[in-house]
Amino acid sequence: MTIKTLMTTAAALAISATAAMAEGETIGFSQIGSESGWRAAETTLTRNQAEERGYQLQFSDAQQKQENQIAAIRSFIAQGVDAILLAPVVATGWDSVLEEAKEAEIPVVLLDRQVDSSDDLYLTAVGSNLVHEGEVAGQWLADAVGDKECRIVELQGTTGSSPAIDRKTGFENAISGHDNLSIVRSQTGDFTRAQGKEVMESFLQAENGGQDICALYAHNDDMAVGAIQAIKEAGLAPGKDILVVSIDAVPDIFKAMADGEANATVELTPNMAGPAFDALEAYWVDGTMPEKFIQTESKLYTQSDDPAGEYEARKGLGY
Ligand code: AHR
Repeated sequence: MTIKTLMTTAAALAISATAAMAEGETIGFSQIGSESGWRAAETTLTRNQAEERGYQLQFSDAQQKQENQIAAIRSFIAQGVDAILLAPVVATGWDSVLEEAKEAEIPVVLLDRQVDSSDDLYLTAVGSNLVHEGEVAGQWLADAVGDKECRIVELQGTTGSSPAIDRKTGFENAISGHDNLSIVRSQTGDFTRAQGKEVMESFLQAENGGQDICALYAHNDDMAVGAIQAIKEAGLAPGKDILVVSIDAVPDIFKAMADGEANATVELTPNMAGPAFDALEAYWVDGTMPEKFIQTESKLYTQSDDPAGEYEARKGLGY
């Protein structure tokens, strides 16, 4: 056996030993709810990853309520789970329960959203740069409209959530140097398709039946899909009369892009659990502390990026 083969074998043995040590661990997962296709995919992938790695997953659906998440975390602590995954619905109000988890020596990993608590209250956070996502969306729109006057309507995510706050900031950063671009209406659609449609209907009504709207920026694809329906019902062509840019890259937005009814989306991977479990395994083995923020990629997709192919590739992935 060569030295290289020996080293490769040793590395493989170390990896499988790590996985074996983590097998049977119990993980509590406090999920926000099922407001979007993206979140459904994150739940599916977390369940799959847990099963593949031999963990017992205790899943709790908070139905969009922070008090349900806090109660779930307290119950995980009482059960003595080995780790907690938390996708926090809003950014504030977590200090006490995170302190309780820390006192019980249970590592907490944040998924996809941030909290405003001290970062020594959790092991790590897995997610994207949410401000950057907004900047990518805003830059795409600025490039697409050029010098043309453009009145934008914005569908915000859940009030008080870090993606709603940061995606708004990022988009505003990107358009700030462009005097021809202005956000004329902005309201929450709570990240849901139904509220995206409802709020867009009110925007259309208030803006001359939509004639005065040049573009829609939605903080997620589900709200954009609802809004596209509202635009069609108002007798306008989404993607043409009103440009549509959003965030997530779920299959349905690729379908809309393939049909010419949406223009661009910024990808947020639903696989937050993979990096979270890798970090936990390293921590369990020898106390390795991960980076406080494990950043995922934010890729822009437009109508020229084979949206029909992207739809086919993603449609069976749990969205
Ligand atoms: O926190 C991530 C956001 O939450 C996703 O963009 C959205 O679809 C979800 O509900």
